[in-house]
Amino acid sequence: MFHMIDFDQIDLLAPVPNGEPMRQYYFMKLLKNWVSKREEELGRKLTYQCRTFGCQMNAKDSEKFAGMLEEMGFVSSEEDVVDIVVYNTCTVRENANQRVYGHLGNLKTLKKKHPDMMIAMCGCMMQEPDVVEKLKKSYPFIDIIFGTHNIFQFPELIQKRIEKGSMVVDIWDGTDMIVENLPSERKYKFKSGVNITYGCNNFCSYCIVPYVRGRERSRNPEDILKEIEDLAKDGVVEVMLLGQNVNSYGKTLEHPISFAELLKEVEKIDGIERIRFMTSHPKDLSPELIEVMANSKKICRHFHLPLQSGSSRVLKEMNRRYTKERYLELVENLREAMPDISLTTDIIVGFPGETEEDFQETLDVVEKARFDSAYTFIYSKRTGTPAATMENQVPEDVVKDRFNRLLKLVGQTSKEQTNRMEGMTLPVLVEEVNRQLPDYVTGRLEYNTVVHFPGDASLIGKIVNVHLTKAKGFYYMGEMEG
Ligand code: SAH
Ligand code: SF4
Ligand code: F3S
Repeated sequence: MFHMIDFDQIDLLAPVPNGEPMRQYYFMKLLKNWVSKREEELGRKLTYQCRTFGCQMNAKDSEKFAGMLEEMGFVSSEEDVVDIVVYNTCTVRENANQRVYGHLGNLKTLKKKHPDMMIAMCGCMMQEPDVVEKLKKSYPFIDIIFGTHNIFQFPELIQKRIEKGSMVVDIWDGTDMIVENLPSERKYKFKSGVNITYGCNNFCSYCIVPYVRGRERSRNPEDILKEIEDLAKDGVVEVMLLGQNVNSYGKTLEHPISFAELLKEVEKIDGIERIRFMTSHPKDLSPELIEVMANSKKICRHFHLPLQSGSSRVLKEMNRRYTKERYLELVENLREAMPDISLTTDIIVGFPGETEEDFQETLDVVEKARFDSAYTFIYSKRTGTPAATMENQVPEDVVKDRFNRLLKLVGQTSKEQTNRMEGMTLPVLVEEVNRQLPDYVTGRLEYNTVVHFPGDASLIGKIVNVHLTKAKGFYYMGEMEG
């Protein structure tokens, strides 16, 4: 972990700093003292755990929570009982919420047995006032509730909780602040997500993200590049640039810069071997980006381009601002520039008013675009979004039937696509020892496809050439060469 700020420089006798992130470093130092005192009393280390739901943005935020907790002296633990547990929640679909409520039921029992265990709830779900009301009423044993706009305040909120002795709730409606230089503890030593934008301005009519993550803000390119340089020095070879719509990066900065221009700068950083990004909105995919990708040695030939629906009529209702034809044209442009590219997508089934004809259009795009894989979702009604009050919500049994038909087709096309590299020898970034076969390791092609092959932990984080001996549908078995 980087030490962004030297703790020795912080004077706990001086007034609490107002500027960020200095203010939070002050609280981290204060809590570090508290943690060592508790350690002495208990005769053991204090432990933490971050449980993450949702997308890569949440995963990245969790790494920041872990970084801050480690600065305070907490150590990571997989046990059920820890001294502080952070639930970083997601609310993009109803089932994400249900999973969190399920966990909260168990926590109630745990907390009764271990009253000193601190429970912090944060993330997208907390930005919904109804959720917070319910938590306050039905789960009064929770210690800290905070939202997506003030994640950097985590140390201050822990301190507040200790001083107050009861639940602390702090949710902001929005922010234009970006707090840089928070500590971060990476899950993987050799790869890392890097935020480039926060929030979203697109307001797709089904989606709650703009309401819970606020307006789109771009980080300054200097901050992004500095972070990636530091990551490279710390052993990172692969970065994933993160934003709800990376293609609109930089447009609102004081000195505007395009996403394609940013990529060119990232490419120059020594030590970085692979560059990925997520997510691209089709409406903002520029020819310039395709060109930069095609000429790049480091940008992975994998494009995640969410379709959502193949029906131009439904796309209009979804406020996606592209048509079926435009989407297929983009697919063609990508394949023309990079014939080997792998394409993945997100699809929603059962959007209000979706007819069988609309659904057939979606199947048609799946056949034509030949996705390497597709994440398929059943439409979930999110309170507060325009689609929630649309008439013609599609009956559950109809949606289930369509969903199963879509899964089947996606399964077929992605199997054909994935199998196309059988017999080739390609570079694989090794990620971990195989979970089932201890003599094997698992890694990824630049195309994002998973490969298993004989090897040991010493290969983790290395890029090695692997002969893809057998295609297994969604992954390959291979043999390392050389
Ligand atoms: N910003 C990204 C997606 C973020 S959410 C984009 O525009 O593509 C990830 C995926 O969840 C979306 O692509 C969409 O397919 C799905 N999703 C979002 N809201 C949903 C809802 N209300 N019901 C079902 N799926 C939804
Ligand atoms: Fe949601 Fe649309 Fe924004 Fe993606 S682009 S986060 S789907 S509103
Ligand atoms: Fe979920 Fe929030 Fe991401 S709602 S998908 S965790 S932005």
